[in-house]
Amino acid sequence: MWGAGMREPAPQHWVRWGPVIIVLHWATLLCVVALLVTGWQLGAHAAHIGRRTEILQLHASLGVLLLAATAVRILARLTGRRPTAPAGSRLRGIAAFVVQAFLYLSLLALIATGIAAAAPRPFTPPIQLFGLWPLPKIVGALPTMVRNMPGIHAALVWILLGLVGFHVAAAIYGTLIARERTIFRMLVWPKHR
Ligand code: HEM
Repeated sequence: MWGAGMREPAPQHWVRWGPVIIVLHWATLLCVVALLVTGWQLGAHAAHIGRRTEILQLHASLGVLLLAATAVRILARLTGRRPTAPAGSRLRGIAAFVVQAFLYLSLLALIATGIAAAAPRPFTPPIQLFGLWPLPKIVGALPTMVRNMPGIHAALVWILLGLVGFHVAAAIYGTLIARERTIFRMLVWPKHR
């Protein structure tokens, strides 16, 4: 029993990620779903410049928001608490780490190629983030690179989806088959799992 003024010692084994990581994990999922929907809508409205520009403003704004969230998340991941690794297979632990590292890399690559693909072209209005700030140009000086960016950006989407597939399959396997409470490590409840 811990009395008034006494501090409870830090637990030896964290059972879940810290709250910042958990909130940003699920916020990233929502943001990526919204980016997929708006990204594919861009193709559907390719012939209507006005509508396409509106959707692109939203798509780019969400993408830059995701960049900020990913930067905070990587920082929190490097500096914050991490749950104790399950006692299961070491190989599975390494595979999970590699897939997670590539998930972060593919998100960053998607954002970078997206910003490059959104560079203003003749007859298209410049993109304003949240209707307020102009989208910074990152490769404005390299027109040939910009020309290839939409294709690279679209290919990266499928790489991201493949990695997400592995990630979700591993979470299901870890939770239901290996019974390592994998999914509970990324949930703020229930309290005592
Ligand atoms: C994780 C982040 C992102 C995801 C998942 C994503 C997803 C997508 C998808 C699904 C498409 C349609 C691809 C296709 O034609 O098959 C697309 C297109 C596009 N995205 Fe993104 N996007 C992301 C980030 C960004 C960012 C940050 C920007 C700009 C700031 C951006 C700008 C664009 C542009 C300009 C296109 C149209 C390319 C073209 O065909 O001309 N994207 N995106």
